[in-house]
Amino acid sequence: MNKSTNVVWQKTSVKKADRQHLNNHKSAVLWFTGLSGSGKSTLSSALEKELFSLETHTYHLDGDNVRHGLNKNLGFSPEDREENIRRIGEVSKLMVDAGLITLTAFISPYQEDRDRVRATLAQGEFIEIYVKCSLDMCEARDPKGLYKKARLGEINNFTGIDAPYEEPLHPEIVIDTENQSIEESVQTIIHYLKDKQYI
Ligand code: ADX
Repeated sequence: MNKSTNVVWQKTSVKKADRQHLNNHKSAVLWFTGLSGSGKSTLSSALEKELFSLETHTYHLDGDNVRHGLNKNLGFSPEDREENIRRIGEVSKLMVDAGLITLTAFISPYQEDRDRVRATLAQGEFIEIYVKCSLDMCEARDPKGLYKKARLGEINNFTGIDAPYEEPLHPEIVIDTENQSIEESVQTIIHYLKDKQYI
């Protein structure tokens, strides 16, 4: 619900295009989505490091970190996940306006929520990256021990166990972390960004 009334959008004197020109690259959101343990954080961190070494301006937003601050009042019900993704979408949009290549690593399990973020951005500014990994493998990796807890019934609404994950229908990029190394995956994304002239 929109509670903000009598507010008027203010135009800024320095525009997104000016910032992109100064930075010498375009800005966009690299939206990583996938199960917990699929490799979103690892891959997006490695990619950010590579982008940094290529002298691009970046910022990285990660699910667990954002839930410590901006979104600490949200849990894991479908409604709270929707609000989580809505806020991250708005923050990402500001960062794209600021001229940054923004990397987000959230499970973001619902196609509708991801599509809503896409719709708030301009054409080409939302790059959906499906970090594909089977539930079996994510559960075997279990880096935070959370699948074990979910199986024991100590965590409810855990994605993949008793909460859904909707695979992206038309992602720009699919990364198979069961069969591709981190370095290969980073290079796949860098190649995409160069090919489409983002960087
Ligand atoms: S999302 O579904 O709203 O996009 P988000 O990416 O912010 O989730 O947070 C996921 C992280 O929260 C997981 O990596 C895991 O560490 C932790 N977590 C805690 N409880 C749950 C749960 N019920 N389902 C999924 N992840 C959970």
